[in-house]
Amino acid sequence: MDTIDVENLLDVAVRVAGEAARLAVRMRAEGVGEVDTKSTETDVVTAADRAVETLVVSLLSEARPGDAVLAEESGASGTGSRVRWILDPIDGTVNYVYGLPQYAVSLAAEVDGEVVAGVVVNPVTGEQWSAAAGRGAYRGARRLRCSRVTQLSQTLVATGFGYDARRRAHQAKVLAGLLPRVRDVRRLGAASLDLCFAAEGRVDAYFEKGLSPWDWAAGALIAREAGLLVTGLAGRAPGDGLVVAAPPGVYQQLHDELVDLDAGGGP
Ligand code: IPD
Repeated sequence: MDTIDVENLLDVAVRVAGEAARLAVRMRAEGVGEVDTKSTETDVVTAADRAVETLVVSLLSEARPGDAVLAEESGASGTGSRVRWILDPIDGTVNYVYGLPQYAVSLAAEVDGEVVAGVVVNPVTGEQWSAAAGRGAYRGARRLRCSRVTQLSQTLVATGFGYDARRRAHQAKVLAGLLPRVRDVRRLGAASLDLCFAAEGRVDAYFEKGLSPWDWAAGALIAREAGLLVTGLAGRAPGDGLVVAAPPGVYQQLHDELVDLDAGGGP
């Protein structure tokens, strides 16, 4: 079987995500324009989400014709390829709409179903996080290591909420149980950036229920390569049930607390 050059995938991801980030910033400067809704009336999509996705898909098909793509706005395309790209053109669309500088382009490459390269770019700050499997995580040229926290009571935890009101009610209950046990909680509004922040210790840990693959594929690789454990609950793989990312020193404590609080349950 042919070997696939992971460094090449990462180079393509970095270049394409950079172009995508420039388009997102340019379109934001021109005004957000029409905002449509998706799964609920709070789940929004802008013309920029669609335009950035179209640009990325076309740049990928020039650079790597035949690869499959899974993208937030257009779904799955291409079959029979060992390489699949996973794209969130604008993660943190609500922040984008409000002009909050906390959104990202998130692009990951899978080979045979395993994420091997990922990049997350904050178009506003220009920060770029990247990782290739087994080769470490970086912000720009700086190698990243997760926090060394060992006590849950000292742990700053990022999280997020879904768009469905019933799911949010459950997530609020989980949060009410967790908040007295941790240093504090942050809800920044873009899952990919939450994971990158955990990778460099801007927060210690992160969890969220109900994410889609494009929200976490690149960020989870970056977090893992920075030393965090990234899993689901009770031996499950990370996924829409729950994604928890925590440094080894507090992973078990946070995991067990989330199990007790039924963070993976509810609608
Ligand atoms: C959302 C963001 C948010 C998270 C939601 C995601 P989107 O992605 O990552 O932080 O809490 O679960 O859906 O909709 O802005 O691409």
